[in-house]
Amino acid sequence: MALLQGLGAALPEHRVANIFKPLATPAQSEYHIALLVLAITGAIFVVVAGLIVYTIWRFRRRPGDDAKQEPPQVYGSNQIEVAWTVIPILIVFVLIGVSARVIASVQNASPPPQMLKVTLIGHQWWWEVRYPDYGIVTANEIHVPTASATYLELQSADVIHSFWVPQLAGKTDLIPNRTNYSWIDPREPGVYFGNCAEYCGTQHANMLLRVVAQAPEDFKRWAAEQQKPAAENAAFQSLSCVSCHTIKGTPAKGKFGPDLTHLMSRRTLAAGAIANTAENLRQWVKDPQAAKPGSLMPSLQLTDQELGQVVNYLESLQ
Ligand code: CUA
Repeated sequence: MALLQGLGAALPEHRVANIFKPLATPAQSEYHIALLVLAITGAIFVVVAGLIVYTIWRFRRRPGDDAKQEPPQVYGSNQIEVAWTVIPILIVFVLIGVSARVIASVQNASPPPQMLKVTLIGHQWWWEVRYPDYGIVTANEIHVPTASATYLELQSADVIHSFWVPQLAGKTDLIPNRTNYSWIDPREPGVYFGNCAEYCGTQHANMLLRVVAQAPEDFKRWAAEQQKPAAENAAFQSLSCVSCHTIKGTPAKGKFGPDLTHLMSRRTLAAGAIANTAENLRQWVKDPQAAKPGSLMPSLQLTDQELGQVVNYLESLQ
């Protein structure tokens, strides 16, 4: 339990995907522009809806009206036409201007050299998280220190995905053969919930992401744990799991699925689809399609004995 606390299990959870409660700089600037856009478009709505309601009421049919006679028609008023052309153009330019400023301020913030760099790679349907400066590879949870920014390189292994942790930063797509950038600087330690925000196939909705923001010394402790290799296991290595999964320090070097070296340090399995408990882990390995239909992890039709050995070994990967 002490270990788990060090890994952030006791951190407060920001489960609500709420853009109105920003807790990092990019989300904060996007929150301000969202308020401005809402205010402008809200005012337009009130004016237009008000005029419609007034017109319906003012020019309704009254007793004694001649139903066959057209009401008086208005043609070609230059004043009216100039007004309803110029005013919307001005409004659109204001919206473009403030949006461009916020986009530039978020995108052009270049990272100081000592800033933590993370490569986030979208897969159907999970997130690969790499720390090139630490030699760490993990999945579905991005651990970052508070009090400094983390710079994210966003890539995709297959189709277009989208990184979105509403309280930390707006959406940025992960596009094949291209690298996009984003950054986050969570102010408070906690677990921030996010998800894939671009439809990417059957299990798009179960492509969940957590950002675990920790005090800098807790982050260092986590990173040191993650850098350790795992013990080998002969029974596991004889199975085809190793052709898709890497376990650092063992012959398992598959690249297709998530790195499992410290599987038990994560909160969930299957990219947030199920909690990481012993029973769920057993069910998941036994029949991944039951928990996450369409998942690219096949059922290996393991015997009960093999399943027991695999699960025991995976549970040792702290
Ligand atoms: Cu990945 Cu939607």
